Amino acid sequence: MASAVTSSLNVIKNVTVIGGGLMGSGIAQIAAQAGQSVTLVDLNADVLKKSEASIQSSLARVAKKLHKDNPSAIETFIKDTSSRIKYLPDISKSLDDADLVVEAIVENIDAKHKLFASLDEAAPQKTLFASNTSSLSIKEIASVTKRKDKFGGLHFFNPVAVMKLLEVIRIPETSDTTYQTLMAWGKSVGKTCITCKDTPGFVVNRLLVPYLAEAIKLVERGDASPQDVDTAMKLGAGYPMGPLELADYTGLDTTLFIIEGWHKQFPDNSLFTPPEKLKHLVKQGKLGRKTGEGFYKYNK
Ligand code: CAA
Ligand code: NAD
Repeated sequence: MASAVTSSLNVIKNVTVIGGGLMGSGIAQIAAQAGQSVTLVDLNADVLKKSEASIQSSLARVAKKLHKDNPSAIETFIKDTSSRIKYLPDISKSLDDADLVVEAIVENIDAKHKLFASLDEAAPQKTLFASNTSSLSIKEIASVTKRKDKFGGLHFFNPVAVMKLLEVIRIPETSDTTYQTLMAWGKSVGKTCITCKDTPGFVVNRLLVPYLAEAIKLVERGDASPQDVDTAMKLGAGYPMGPLELADYTGLDTTLFIIEGWHKQFPDNSLFTPPEKLKHLVKQGKLGRKTGEGFYKYNK
């Protein structure tokens, strides 16, 4: 039985990642580290320059950990891994050989629908599709394609190079071969995979996002300062980052997209009511670390 499943797996050699922001850059990086050939696509050429810089800086940290006292091994690791990543502003040129497309664009259902409808026309029949969505329904994202059997969710965590978990989501139409291939690919890029049904937030965000929102509401009420809330959760609960630090790290726009989406779907669930302070910061363009200011200020 085990060998029958193994023999029906598709081996992923060529990966196309769409969206060169925080998550897409990290996903491209770990696939290249695993020896796969990667194309990273973003519509915005300036973003691609930033993606390349952030991958270089992250690779330097990974290389240092892997090859502590061996400068030539560090150099070879960075050079070889970098040589496996192509940066492209044009999606149509990125699909010819793709075994897997991982989408990591903005958390907006209309944008994801538009993208997947055109990918479905352009990609070869063999290509598997996956979304890294934080909060949207995989079934709904897949609904615009004709290859629902080849569709799944692959939800990574920030920073992708460090966080060890991957949530693999299957919808009723996902074939066994696709599911097994996605699980095997997750393992090949160094992640521990868990499976969750296609429910809002899967496991981690269903628990984490209401916690972040509650922390923001606590600050809004003036119960405690952001610094004290963060210190409390780091020292009192052993979290590596406090909730306001983490919201800044994730991106306040992404955090707001998630909560607003769920609030529309479940208006009676008070855990999903968007905090006013979050809306206000996003309106001001203070999106957290990526823009230099959120709950805290950062050196760009
Ligand atoms: N690339 C490569 N390596 C990195 C890195 C990166 N971007 N960021 C950190 N590291 C490495 C460092 O080099 C360091 O390695 P060594 O142990 O070998 O020195 C190690 O990670 C720890 O880093 P730091 O010393 O700089 O800082 P830290 O100890 O505070 O750890 C952290 C940083 C790993 C980000 C830690 O603070 C943490 O785990 N924070 C919580 C992150 C989290 O919860 N992520 C999930 C967010 S939710 C999400 O992503 C889902 C969603 O849909 C919104
Ligand atoms: P981001 O804003 O950093 O990056 C998104 C990128 O997508 C931008 O560079 C933008 O130019 C690009 N883009 C938008 N539309 C595009 C299109 N049609 N084609 C190509 N590129 C396009 O966002 P992010 O934080 O990397 O999040 C990306 C996805 O991953 C979202 O669905 C988000 O919910 C999910 N996610 C985010 C986190 C996190 O911690 N930030 C964690 C897990 C999952």
